[in-house]
Amino acid sequence: MEILEKEVEEIRKSFEKAEREVRDYQSFLKLKEEFLGKKRGKITNLLNLLRTIPKEDKPKAGRLINEVKEFVENRVKELEKRMEEIRARRKKEVLDPTLPALIPEIGSPHPIRKMTQMIEEIFLRMGYTIEEGPEIESDWFNFEALNIPKDHPARDTQDTLYIDNEMLLRTHTSPVQIRVMQKRKPPIKSIMPGRVFRKDEPDPTHSPMFFQVEGLLVDRGVSFSHLKGTLELFLQTLFSKDIKIRFRPSYFPFTEPSAEVDISCPICRGNQKDCRTCGGTGWLEILGAGMVHPFVLRVCGIDWNEYTGFAFGLGVERLAIIKWGIEDMRLFYENDLRFLKQFSRF
Ligand code: DAH
Repeated sequence: MEILEKEVEEIRKSFEKAEREVRDYQSFLKLKEEFLGKKRGKITNLLNLLRTIPKEDKPKAGRLINEVKEFVENRVKELEKRMEEIRARRKKEVLDPTLPALIPEIGSPHPIRKMTQMIEEIFLRMGYTIEEGPEIESDWFNFEALNIPKDHPARDTQDTLYIDNEMLLRTHTSPVQIRVMQKRKPPIKSIMPGRVFRKDEPDPTHSPMFFQVEGLLVDRGVSFSHLKGTLELFLQTLFSKDIKIRFRPSYFPFTEPSAEVDISCPICRGNQKDCRTCGGTGWLEILGAGMVHPFVLRVCGIDWNEYTGFAFGLGVERLAIIKWGIEDMRLFYENDLRFLKQFSRF
């Protein structure tokens, strides 16, 4: 009796193991034959064994054997049903070679990258080189060398994350100007794109992280009219030929004289009192610019009696917002594909 109990338990275990290993119809048929086969099935053998058991043990043994027989039969039936379903589904799957292929989705540059590329292309055509500098910058490069000493009020508008007393996340791309002027002798003709950081709350026009492109040209006899002509050509190429440019006197510690540059509103062209882009003024502030301050040239070891230069700095998001009529700057950083996909065709 004990031997029979053990045998039944073993059959149940080996069935469960074999069941887990069924992968297809073929292996299912093998399992069915192994346990329920008319001649040598494990269950059939058990039933034959019953004949050899003494009379008094027969009822108990019969129950034991029946239990495992029903267990195996039920599980085989279930398996068979599942196999049939799979076979039926397979049959319905007819190969249709005329169906269009599954084309993998192709990504596209992010609008910020796209705008940066458009800016780079225009300046590359004018013979500028592209330079880069570190995002973690020293206080000296970010402020001191640009004529912004520790107690200068210009620091208030450009608060940032300090890593220690000396290192910080750069607040603008202007420190790259210093690095380029220290590295190379004039003539220098470079633009410097990159990521910058400021202590600003995110809102439709502010972000604690955004992108700028810095421009720098240093040579003999460079004048403010060169700056004007360069920016006019750049902005008219980027927006359109009939756009007007306006220079307003301004102040930056690292340029003298300094100007803020506006373009006539490319959305309403100054004809709409309630234009949401320019607020009805007809003008949009675009960038800061000026003649490189002698202090800055001297810091970089450039003879400011021999050389002059102009510089400018612009916000990439700002240009993209105007170019593509985007209402909220935060859209650039949310990675919503419904927004990003719209730029794949530009
Ligand atoms: N660095 C300035 C800013 O982030 C922008 C700027 C103004 C850069 C005038 C320049 C410049 O190179 O000449 O606000």
